[in-house]
Amino acid sequence: MEKNMVDQLSSEELEAYFSEDYLYFGDVVKPPEESDREAAAIWNLLSLRQDNQVLELGCGYGRITNRLAEKGARVTGLDISPILLKKAEADAAERRVNVEYVPGDMRSLPWRDRFDAALLWFTSFGYFDDAENERVLHEAACSLRKGGRLLIDHLNRFAWLRDKPACFVVQRDNDVRIDIVDTDALTDRINWKRIIVRDGSVRRMRFSFRQYGFPEYVRMLRDAGFDAVEAYGQDGGVFTPDGPRIVVVAHK
Ligand SMILES: C[S@@+](CC[C@H](N)C(=O)[O-])C[C@H]1O[C@@H](n2cnc3c(N)ncnc32)[C@H](O)[C@@H]1O
Repeated sequence: MEKNMVDQLSSEELEAYFSEDYLYFGDVVKPPEESDREAAAIWNLLSLRQDNQVLELGCGYGRITNRLAEKGARVTGLDISPILLKKAEADAAERRVNVEYVPGDMRSLPWRDRFDAALLWFTSFGYFDDAENERVLHEAACSLRKGGRLLIDHLNRFAWLRDKPACFVVQRDNDVRIDIVDTDALTDRINWKRIIVRDGSVRRMRFSFRQYGFPEYVRMLRDAGFDAVEAYGQDGGVFTPDGPRIVVVAHK
């Protein structure tokens, strides 16, 4: 189990991974129409209404936060990456929406009893060891008002283990991003080696996150202060072991 300690990421590794290269390939991985569809699904899953206060933890370059603001929510986005936050702010200005962007670490949040809803979208959970991952859920719970909802969207480990993908390649013009992935069954983590070949330069980085099954989510979320916990599939459809995603909604 000491391996878990080795695999978890430092803040520096997270910042290096979620940097300019992540941004560069962003629209290829998540085209705008897909982000539109996801924002609509999130709106329904969280039962959002106009003027609801929403917090996105790990908001990245604001592809979801800015769209939720366009739909009428009052949105706050928190992220550890200054580069992605800068892009999120520029995009919000272009879309003429008002979003509060806050640099910070999801393991320690400054808000108490404020938000109607919070989300950890597109595999933004599980980067740390179990205790710190649970701290993220606890901090999210504290940031929500009574009756608030937390949404987590993550890989479905059943489908992942069945398909056992070993390598992903994303191309933009003459540049490529290669991901070599490995699932460690003893730590239940997916470990990711990323190679960026861009403008004739090669950069390497690593990424790692924990996978949890639904009963583990229920236990962790109840310990963090949530009450009812529901499971859905991709974008709020029915959860099945074969589907690519698990979406969890917890009510405080
Ligand atoms: C996979 S991306 C998802 C971004 C966004 N939710 C989306 O759907 O496009 C995960 C995000 O979490 C951020 N992140 C990683 N560790 C963090 C931490 N400790 N605190 C806050 N944000 C963090 C990364 O910078 C990155 O933007």
